[in-house]
Amino acid sequence: MLGHLPLLLMLGSRAIGAARLDLTGDREACVRTVAIKQDFQRKGYGRTLMARLEALALAHSVEKLIVNAARDAVGFYKAVGWTIVDAARDNPVLMKRLRADA
Ligand SMILES: CC(C)(COP(=O)(O)OP(=O)(O)OC[C@H]1O[C@@H](n2cnc3c(N)ncnc32)[C@H](O)[C@@H]1OP(=O)(O)O)[C@@H](O)C(=O)NCCC(=O)NCCS
Repeated sequence: MLGHLPLLLMLGSRAIGAARLDLTGDREACVRTVAIKQDFQRKGYGRTLMARLEALALAHSVEKLIVNAARDAVGFYKAVGWTIVDAARDNPVLMKRLRADA
């Protein structure tokens, strides 16, 4: 199944983060537009957002996630378990394999 799945991270009634999962087929998906509102960064919400995104991906039988990351965000992705595939690009490519029992 192909599609674009938006995700909002809510704190009470406030949206403080967002991301999108693009299902690309072959049990793969691209992660896009990951962002936490500036005032809420570095408090663990990005980690929570990615955990929700992974759960959403698993619910759609996705086994491998890909992102073209902002250079400044590479450390974040590494901290939440992603691996660099191509560091040479302007937007480095990282991936994460998902396991239903993880
Ligand atoms: C990147 C972003 C989503 C991270 O969200 P966050 O809420 O600040 O991240 P968290 O507080 O959950 O951090 C999770 C881990 O990543 C680390 N981390 C977060 N931002 C980091 C950064 N820019 N560089 C290196 N490490 C980073 C934290 O130290 C933490 O590690 P730890 O748990 O081992 O201490 C957020 O900073 C953001 O929205 N940035 C602007 C938009 C952007 O660059 N989006 C990415 C597009 S690809």
